[in-house]
Amino acid sequence: MAKEVKNVEYGLEKIFEGAQDFLPLLGTDYVEFYVGNAKQSAHFYKTAFGFQSEAYAGLETGVKDRASYVLRQDKIRLVLTTALKSDSPIGEHVKKHGDGVKVVALWVEDARSAYEETTKRGAKSFMEPTVEKDEHGEVVRAGIYTYGETVHMFVERKNYKGTFLPGYEKWESDYNPAPTGLKFIDHMVGNVGWNEMNTWVKWYEDVMGFENFLSFDDKQIHTEYSALMSKVMANGNGRVKFPINEPAEGKKKSQIEEYLDFYEGPGVQHIAVATDDIIKTVSDLRSRGVEFLSTPPDEYYKAIPDRVGAFDHEVKEDIRKIQELGIMVDADEEGYLLQIFTKPVEDRPTLFFEIIQRMGARGFGAGNFKALFESIEREQAKRGTL
Ligand code: FE2
Repeated sequence: MAKEVKNVEYGLEKIFEGAQDFLPLLGTDYVEFYVGNAKQSAHFYKTAFGFQSEAYAGLETGVKDRASYVLRQDKIRLVLTTALKSDSPIGEHVKKHGDGVKVVALWVEDARSAYEETTKRGAKSFMEPTVEKDEHGEVVRAGIYTYGETVHMFVERKNYKGTFLPGYEKWESDYNPAPTGLKFIDHMVGNVGWNEMNTWVKWYEDVMGFENFLSFDDKQIHTEYSALMSKVMANGNGRVKFPINEPAEGKKKSQIEEYLDFYEGPGVQHIAVATDDIIKTVSDLRSRGVEFLSTPPDEYYKAIPDRVGAFDHEVKEDIRKIQELGIMVDADEEGYLLQIFTKPVEDRPTLFFEIIQRMGARGFGAGNFKALFESIEREQAKRGTL
């Protein structure tokens, strides 16, 4: 008898008992990208992904060294920032890494305490607690470094009623493509160097109070050619999940190594965004020009009913439709999930997006790793980096 599984926005209950609460997190606040041309990036995320214009800071608002565009879709907030002059840490970041994620900002009740608790446990400071004010109130922010040059910013906004942050103005645009059904960030994955995964797992445990709740070794995550290892870290209430990958030895070059070569160091590999209608979302994204990895072969789709059936679940969606769109399916005891991965969203083979719909499953698609990595390797082969 097949079990009824629900689409869940899980993690709102306390599910990771081992995690500590010296750093209570309310969720992800924003993700800031440092890019070469923020105006054009903003246009891309609006047109291709259906993000909505929310706020802007730049010369017109009195900011002299940078321009930042804030985009929103449901609970996801992206900030696209570019330098206005060559003499800028933002410009240096882009020169070294290309376009990429600089800040994964976390929403907290108390940014001063978050900074104190993490720095006293060994976090390297990026920004001391800073109060920013305007007529709508005040925001307190503080930041620490995580892997590479990536930063976690703690954002306390309980005393703020304005748009985004002080210094930003509401961005009213005449160009407003419809949203594509993206709802919230499910997880964000970091790539770190050879043999560094456990160092960063320990860092998230010790400094952030996270818990390691899933691990995959290179015996599970490999193809004929390449391999990687991954551990998933989650905070106490399960709202924030950061898998950490490191490359592993294989016959050919690991996709993680390719990332490290082109990003020139550790950084955010992919942002997984949740939808509750993946067929509609992916159809929409494809029609807007978002490029996805190639569709797995026929045999993959023929095997789905049995793979999911082995866990006593039944896929509700039309498998023909799923195959047409190149969506992958995985299952565990609790349910199943549907997922698909974009190609990198910039010229360097670095950051990409995942679209995910959870139908009860809490995993990360381990059953798809092989099919997925074979698809990535086909792209690596074209780039001459396999
Ligand atoms: Fe993922």
